Amino acid sequence: MLQGKKIVLGITGSIAAYKSCLIIRQLVKRGAEVQVVITPAGKEFITPITLSALTSKPVISEFFSQRDGTWHSHVDLGLWADAMLIAPATASTIGKMAHGVADNMLITTYLSMKAPVFIAPAMDLDMYAHPSTQQNLRTLQAYGNHIIEPGTGFLASKLEGKGRMEEPENIVAVLEDFFSQQTSMAGQKVLITAGPTYEKIDPVRFIGNYSSGKMGFALANECANRGAQVELVCGPVSSSMQTPHPNIHRTDVESAQEMYEACQRLFPSMKLAILCAAVADFTPVTVASEKMKRTGDEMVIRLKPNPDIAASLGEMKKEGQTLVGFALETNDEVSNAQAKLKKKNFDFIVLNSLNDAGAGFRTDTNKITIITSNGKTEYSLKPKSEVAKDIINQLEEVMGA
Ligand code: CTP
Repeated sequence: MLQGKKIVLGITGSIAAYKSCLIIRQLVKRGAEVQVVITPAGKEFITPITLSALTSKPVISEFFSQRDGTWHSHVDLGLWADAMLIAPATASTIGKMAHGVADNMLITTYLSMKAPVFIAPAMDLDMYAHPSTQQNLRTLQAYGNHIIEPGTGFLASKLEGKGRMEEPENIVAVLEDFFSQQTSMAGQKVLITAGPTYEKIDPVRFIGNYSSGKMGFALANECANRGAQVELVCGPVSSSMQTPHPNIHRTDVESAQEMYEACQRLFPSMKLAILCAAVADFTPVTVASEKMKRTGDEMVIRLKPNPDIAASLGEMKKEGQTLVGFALETNDEVSNAQAKLKKKNFDFIVLNSLNDAGAGFRTDTNKITIITSNGKTEYSLKPKSEVAKDIINQLEEVMGA
């Protein structure tokens, strides 16, 4: 799967830099072409001569070649690569990447990168556990980068035993895995709804919910990484939620009605729709044109039902189209989810229970049960990016059947 792949390998100033040699060896053995970009601190740990001997290419570390003064184009590297791997990635480089501090060739290359980026952090546990490092990693993950960690192969929610760089063979396995899945949804059109909806009460107030949109964004990234063309329709989410993947086309909406209209327009040409949004079931009957004033002891806001996007798409669904719903239940989870599966004409439903710690709204992890008409599969608590993989694997099975 790595045969002919072009990998930019970023090396930074960590003692784990010697392991980069093992990564290069394994990549080259599998037929990949490797271009090393090293930071000034990285060169303190490993010499460019070793690296260029292993890759059969000059190592890039400065903006200009010391030999003849020619400019190294980070833009060209960004276009050349099929993937960028930063291993080891120090706290400093991770911080610079998260904030766009482009003061060396590695960061400028990262900022110009058009291919998926994999990051293998390496530092001591205290640095790793610091909220600033954790926040930077979450930021990078929200930008669609893949974080590779020891033991899990992905950004885990627990910190025990973390900080150490993942072993070279596991890092290479993550890349192989990525490329082998890259084409499984090639050309398929997928509609994904994500986030909350806001239902206006007056110019400054709304009815909303705690949905962050993270699960829907993780699904959009996963489908895009597998080659699908994704239409992401999302409600109001944090500005840190970005969708840089070129296969993702994003439509931002606010209310359930707007989300409904976007979905009605898009669904007919879709192969698949995953309805992950937490849509408000009701909306105020009237929206006050001026800010409502405090009067009397009580306040009553009359609500009317919103369209049920899922049920409407379930009715429109044609042969060959697949519809996946989510359910967040607080009691009688499985039987409630099974009822929704029938009512909304879903092909399967992803159940997350609020009774499970770490699952549901505003968390980076989720614990799901997938329910089909002929059974259920339970999964363990995982980062949402991994939950997205489980869901799409199951989907590919159902669609392939
Ligand atoms: N959904 C939707 N449009 C709505 C309400 C829900 O598309 N107006 C979708 C959600 O995106 C999710 C599924 O329907 O995929 C289940 O949502 P949920 O709110 O749990 O179901 P409801 O039908 O609202 O049932 P209830 O509130 O009675 O639990």
